[in-house]
Amino acid sequence: VDAPPRREMGDFAVGCFAAAKAQGKNPAVVAAEIVAKFAPTDLLASATAAGPFVNFQLQRGPVFAYCVERAAAGTLLPQPGADQTICIDYSSPNISKHLAFHHIRSTVIGHALAQIFRGLGYRVIGINHLGDWGTTHGMLIAAFKKWGAPEPIDVTALNALYVRFRDEMKTNPDLENEGRAWFKKLEDGDAEARALWQKFRDVSWAEFETVYAMLGIKFDEIRGESAYEPDMPRVMAELRDKGMVTESQGAQVVELDGEKTPMLLVTKDGTTLYATRDIAAAQYRWNTYHFARSLYVVDRGQALHFRQLWKALAKAGYAWSSKCEHVPFGLVRIGGKKTSTRGGNVVLLKDVFNEASDEIAERIQASVQNNDRTSEVTDIAGTAQKVGIGAVMFANLMSQREKDVDFDWEKVMATDGDSGVYLQYAHARCASILRKAGSDGHANADLSKLTQPGEWALARRILDYGDMAVRAGNNCEPHVICHYLLELAGDFSRFYTAGNGDATLRVLCEDGHTRAARLALTEATKTVLAHGMALLGLQAVEAV
Ligand code: ARG
Repeated sequence: VDAPPRREMGDFAVGCFAAAKAQGKNPAVVAAEIVAKFAPTDLLASATAAGPFVNFQLQRGPVFAYCVERAAAGTLLPQPGADQTICIDYSSPNISKHLAFHHIRSTVIGHALAQIFRGLGYRVIGINHLGDWGTTHGMLIAAFKKWGAPEPIDVTALNALYVRFRDEMKTNPDLENEGRAWFKKLEDGDAEARALWQKFRDVSWAEFETVYAMLGIKFDEIRGESAYEPDMPRVMAELRDKGMVTESQGAQVVELDGEKTPMLLVTKDGTTLYATRDIAAAQYRWNTYHFARSLYVVDRGQALHFRQLWKALAKAGYAWSSKCEHVPFGLVRIGGKKTSTRGGNVVLLKDVFNEASDEIAERIQASVQNNDRTSEVTDIAGTAQKVGIGAVMFANLMSQREKDVDFDWEKVMATDGDSGVYLQYAHARCASILRKAGSDGHANADLSKLTQPGEWALARRILDYGDMAVRAGNNCEPHVICHYLLELAGDFSRFYTAGNGDATLRVLCEDGHTRAARLALTEATKTVLAHGMALLGLQAVEAV
């Protein structure tokens, strides 16, 4: 079931190819036969043949009623996820480093997927698999012991220590051994090493948390790589029992079909690796949650790692490995002048969000002054945050996941065009119309008053909402929702501006019954816009 190429042709198009093949007939003949036998039903008004397709027109009254009722009841989405769990590993940054701008993609895409699956009735476990273990952390301790850092220590200082250590390692190879020695101490539970590591981890988490709070993100599980360290002997014993572990130049590896390089489990110094800990984490997630899907929202640069991970899990005989999926995404390229930097040459996520909020706040203030009106915005700072942060999030979700994103400040912040700001305006416009209508009731509006093409286009779009969200979830593609919402906002704008030249077409028109029906449709549109934005992690505002 599809949409016909042009709206006037009908509301649904059904291709007769499969039916024709089964009956050994020409598809156009089958289409004509279906049309000849068609009789209107409560939901279908007419059928016409167009070559191999049958185009159906819906009965509009029931569709208008369905949209308005569903929106009012808040039952906009089907619930295919009832009784199923989805694990989503996202954000998962490495500690002692800033959350840089490229982390936004995992964080924002992962959060949107979590929201979408929650909306579809799944139990979602959002997991932050912090990178908090490995030789890097030994180096950091060694650097701190050597050079120290001013209190209160922060992520910028930690990062500087690490950079300096790597730099000096080039001319002083002994440093590498010092780093290893400290990591060994950390692994062996040495009290000083542990305390420093814990401190660095706490400092990092406090910084990450301010960003997550800005975005309204809460994880269900914060379990770093370090949590799996105790499982390493068991994991290795299991793999050895299964005869999977071989030695290669002193290291312990798993050979995998179709892979040129084996998967490295333990280095020749006896240190376990990222991959080894990912095996333990995957087992933990299965044993704890019995997931229907286990998603890893990680940049496509790690495609090899995940491919090998799934192969290793399958080789170990875990049937559930087929439920694990790498959800890769492209890079973000930063253009435009506005992405200023602080603390080195990485663009800090916090700064971008703050800058976006500031710009929106300035705009609201300017518009209040220029229009010499009392703004409908009661909380300028709060509104600017929602609109500004939402604009940056939206820009990261709007393209297909695997495409690279060009982060162009002008476009991200544009009031019209494909932006989060545009969606906020559409939502605020709905709210403002409803406010203006005041206590004009539209609860029991007579929807048969809706006879205009623009009204139908809006209802027809709202009708698609559920299927669209299911598709976005199945393919792990939030951009499907972005696209839908932009279309919906466009339909709303046409519906609403139709009244510019003709007063009878205004939402707030003379005729009370028509006005009530249009208000009911406006209310439904507002609800779907806000609901869809929430699926993306955006908070809709009532005025802007
Ligand atoms: N910490 C890793 C990084 O920043 C990402 C971790 C992704 N999740 C995982 N289970 N491997 O590159």
